[in-house]
Amino acid sequence: PCEGLYPFQWNWDSGFIALGWGLLDVERAKMEIRSLLLGQWQNGFLPHIVFHNEAETYFPGPDVWDVGRSRFAPEKKTSGITQPPVLGFVVEFLYDRHGDALMDFIAEVFPALYAWHAYLYTHRDLHNEGLVYICHNWEAGTDNTPVWDAIWEGMDSPSYDLNRRDTQHVDAANRPSNREYEHYIHLVELFKSWDYEDAKIGANSPFLIQDPLFNALLMRSNEGLIRLGKLLGLEAEVARLEQWQERSLKHFHKKLYSPLNKAYVYYDLRNERRLEAVSSSSFVPLFAGIPSPSIAREMVVHHFEKGRFSGPRDEYYLCASFDPTSEAFDPGRYWRGPVWVNLNWLLYHGLRRYGFGALAENVR
Ligand code: SER
Repeated sequence: PCEGLYPFQWNWDSGFIALGWGLLDVERAKMEIRSLLLGQWQNGFLPHIVFHNEAETYFPGPDVWDVGRSRFAPEKKTSGITQPPVLGFVVEFLYDRHGDALMDFIAEVFPALYAWHAYLYTHRDLHNEGLVYICHNWEAGTDNTPVWDAIWEGMDSPSYDLNRRDTQHVDAANRPSNREYEHYIHLVELFKSWDYEDAKIGANSPFLIQDPLFNALLMRSNEGLIRLGKLLGLEAEVARLEQWQERSLKHFHKKLYSPLNKAYVYYDLRNERRLEAVSSSSFVPLFAGIPSPSIAREMVVHHFEKGRFSGPRDEYYLCASFDPTSEAFDPGRYWRGPVWVNLNWLLYHGLRRYGFGALAENVR
């Protein structure tokens, strides 16, 4: 995604990058996805980093992750956590642009994408409610959102000799603190001590979250895979995807919508509580068609038309990554305020899906 700072393949970044290549050079879009899938584990898990080449500019590298401890790890070097599943809808967008010329490629990658979703629903849906957990802030993608502050407060991580490289590439004021990094690394060390076994992580990880962004993207990817699976005539896979989708839809709104905040929020499974904070993740369920039209209107009116995310354009743009009126808002530190264009692309499509065309144009 970025020379120096991010010199490998990052799972969801690669999905967005493939979308971009889809407009410019579809062969490179395919290469991006194929290369990422080389990192897939034997149980379907798709890691958040594939170390597709050598580079010394990033910490934590493959030796820190040490994923060979898992009996499912592939030959390729990878990290041991995942990231929001975007490839299902990415491949659908590529299909919409390139049509049947892409069918061979879709048939080639469909089984891997299906296996990833099957992994998530099989190993990470602890209560069979169609809401999968994430066990690390880097799995969320929203690395340092203030939402996690309450989790870190409850964790007593040891101090580590950090070999941070990120702050050699960008201003430390834009990055997480060392203390935050110690929590991130502590989680990695715990997962290693459990040989990356899902059952142990699910039972013991101090970070265990049902994330509205991750789950909404999973559901939007289910939609993509259901459509493409039908085109491929894969009846059994389509039926399974539809079951998962139905289960997710049944519980998503009930569990993750906060009437208090009029937005979707995170659920902390380890401590059985909602994490009441509004962030750009709060609105991504629009992209997956999750809220009813009246709830969608409630959210949009409350936050974008007259609320906290609706400041004048020269103050902040739709959509800040975190609630601009919160004390934790920080316009310089990536997920604590700054806009990420990829997230806004999701929001643009979500607003269009619900008929908020003018607002979608504003975001665009
Ligand atoms: N984005 C993380 C980082 O900043 C890794 O996934 O290092």
